[in-house]
Amino acid sequence: MKVKHYSVFEVLTTNVINWNGLRNEELESPYFLPNTREKYLSKVQAEQPSDYVLKMIEQMKKLGYKRILSLGCGIAQTEYHIKKESNLEVIVSDNTESIQRLQSYGIFDEALSLDILKDDYPADEETVVLMHRIDTEFNDEDLKHIFKTCKTHGIRHVFFVPTNPFVFKILLNEFKTLIISIIKRKKRTFCGYSRSKSSLIKLWRGSYEKIYEYRDEKSFYIIELTKKND
Ligand SMILES: C[S@@+](CC[C@H](N)C(=O)[O-])C[C@H]1O[C@@H](n2cnc3c(N)ncnc32)[C@H](O)[C@@H]1O
Repeated sequence: MKVKHYSVFEVLTTNVINWNGLRNEELESPYFLPNTREKYLSKVQAEQPSDYVLKMIEQMKKLGYKRILSLGCGIAQTEYHIKKESNLEVIVSDNTESIQRLQSYGIFDEALSLDILKDDYPADEETVVLMHRIDTEFNDEDLKHIFKTCKTHGIRHVFFVPTNPFVFKILLNEFKTLIISIIKRKKRTFCGYSRSKSSLIKLWRGSYEKIYEYRDEKSFYIIELTKKND
């Protein structure tokens, strides 16, 4: 199942999601990327690392990785905890201007301005790729293209954290957003697509196959480069 995904923001009322605006607007608290290193650290340290983050680190180490590239990292809270709780080299990337702030804080090994659809990935078979809740951002063709690009780079494993892969929860969330928009009299902003697990699997098929699934308060899948040719 795939449905259009909407959100209602505090102050930003664009028709389509504007990540540069959200990362720069303090009133959009969950999305805001603070302007100083101290404020950034207090924001990302506010929560303890979740069990799924520790499980991801364990699995990355088990697969023998020393380096991770995160695509579309946003405020990079998960990546911060991965960096803090492991000795992995952590490279974060995003295509918003706020990535320059992250780079200036000197917390990650690198913070790169990278457009997932257009730019080359600084990654090879020695690098594990993290896609953390970026699935909503892209249409099906683009997501297939992203997995093919990973395949072309010889990336053996992708840790894929789906935004919300459960049909019931997807429908409930979209319904809640509609009700909130009516109550608050605010426009809904188009934020891409919500997909169920079966819809996601179809998009990496031919390039990758799922070899591991963690399912708790948050899910993640480890997908492995397929040995079969398309
Ligand atoms: C839903 S947010 C997820 C952010 C973060 N990974 C998280 O889980 O909190 C999607 C992120 O993808 C980034 N993004 C969208 N399109 C992109 C593109 N073409 N290249 C790189 N990043 C992109 C956005 O800037 C945004 O930070």
